[in-house]
Order: sequence, then structure tokens, then C-alpha cells
Amino acid sequence: MKKKIRIITYGTFDLFHIGHLNILKRLNSLGDELIVGVSTDEFNERKNKKSVIPYDERREIVSSIKFVDKTIPESSWSQKIQDIQKYNIHIFGIGDDWKGEFDYLKEYCEVVYLERTPSISSNQIKKKLNK
Ligand code: CTP
Repeated sequence: MKKKIRIITYGTFDLFHIGHLNILKRLNSLGDELIVGVSTDEFNERKNKKSVIPYDERREIVSSIKFVDKTIPESSWSQKIQDIQKYNIHIFGIGDDWKGEFDYLKEYCEVVYLERTPSISSNQIKKKLNK
């Protein structure tokens, strides 16, 4: 039997938008199973990031996307190596706004940075709504 290629990514996915959908679709196309670590509200607080949609709802939305096979909580910066080993991950992928930041994971799996969808972000939506 052919070995399953597993991919992992992480993010907040607040106010789920087309940029989120595009990256999950592209990540899914790189292999057989996509696992998404959804940032908890506590973790975001530590990053000085505040989402509009609470963690449980963001996770439920991401879990319902057909390109996503499994979601896990992202509650620390340091969990990635453990997750990669636990879930037998072959590819870690994330948007190129993070280019270079996760090269240290290359010791454990392939690391890819995908081009972001232009002109949209959760922050941009928040700004538009505040106008
Ligand atoms: N992403 C993307 N294209 C966009 C926005 C996000 O490919 N236009 C990707 C990010 O690179 C990341 C994932 O989606 O891999 C989750 O990003 P997240 O930070 O949750 O979304 P943003 O819209 O970038 O949020 P913010 O505006 O709060 O930074």
C-alpha cells in the first residue's frame, strides 16, 4: 500500500475568508491528509492578537472545510516538532508571510511557504467593518 503523505499547518483563521480557503485547498493538494492547528484564544492573547470569532467556532469552521482532515489546538510556539512526530507529518506548509520562520523544522519534515492570496486578510476585514 502506498504511504500516506500528511501535511500540517497552523493559523488563527478568524473571519474565515477566501485566502484561508485557498491555502487549505493548496495544502491539501500536496498530499493525502491535512491537519490544521487552530490557534487558541489564550495563545493569541500571548501574541497580542485578538480574534472576533472565539476558538471553538473558528475550529468548527475549519474542521468543516472539505480539504481538512483533522484539527488540533495550537496553544504554543514549541508544539510543532512534537506534532510533526506524533502525526507522522511529511510536509509543514504555511503562507509566505512566514517565509524563513520555520526553516528549523526542515530537520523533521519538508517545509513549504505558499504564496498568500493578495488583498485579503482577517485584519483587513476588521478594518473595513470599522469604517
Ligand atoms: N493566508 C493566505 N492568504 C491570505 C491570508 C492568509 O494564504 N490572504 C494564510 C496565511 O499565510 C496562513 C493562513 O492563511 O498560512 C492562516 O492565516 P491567518 O493569520 O489566520 O490569516 P490572516 O488573514 O493573515 O490574519 P491576520 O490579518 O490577523 O494576520
